[in-house]
Amino acid sequence: MTALTSIERAGTVISVIVGDITTLEVDAIVNAANQGLAGGGGVDGAIHRAAGAQKLQAACRAIGGCPTGEARITDGFDLPARFIIHAVGPRWRDGTKGEDDLLAGAYRHSFTLAADNQVASIAFPAISTGIYGFPKDRAAAIAVREALNAAGGDLVEIVLCCFSESDAAIYATALDDAAGT
Ligand code: AR6
Repeated sequence: MTALTSIERAGTVISVIVGDITTLEVDAIVNAANQGLAGGGGVDGAIHRAAGAQKLQAACRAIGGCPTGEARITDGFDLPARFIIHAVGPRWRDGTKGEDDLLAGAYRHSFTLAADNQVASIAFPAISTGIYGFPKDRAAAIAVREALNAAGGDLVEIVLCCFSESDAAIYATALDDAAGT
């Protein structure tokens, strides 16, 4: 898959691509989940179908749930990815209800779980920007900031996987801006 843009920071390549996250051959993919880890629409539904809905649902049920701004990890089951990190981003209200910090928390906690599990390559969808309605340019700036902060350590690759060309253009601009290119 061709990257729209790609930068290197502290030995980690951060790139923006257009694609279906369920097909990526990375150590971990991140899911845009809900607090119940109950499955749903959007990328969550696609991941549950591709991983094997029954197996993944059982694993999520055993965990129980996840507060907004945090993440939980399961096996990847039938996916090419070894792990799924279920991150719960905020539902957008008006921007004054802690949405920015909660979205940043979802990314940060995902990176912590990745480090705890020796993940070298990780792919994120555009968390909260679909059904949860977070403004895309604002979400992209947060995603990029947290990716840059997480670079280094065991991480070889961070992929920001968008589902449309237009979303990818927003994330690519945010990455180029933040990287100062
Ligand atoms: N690969 C990559 N990105 C995708 C894919 C895919 N296969 N499918 C959709 N997207 P959303 P949210 C993009 O709505 O806003 C669920 O019901 C999509 O185009 O999936 O965090 C959960 O259970 C968008 O850019 O997640 C929650 O209840 C991005 O993924 C709620 O939706 C995120 O959109 C979470 O809402």
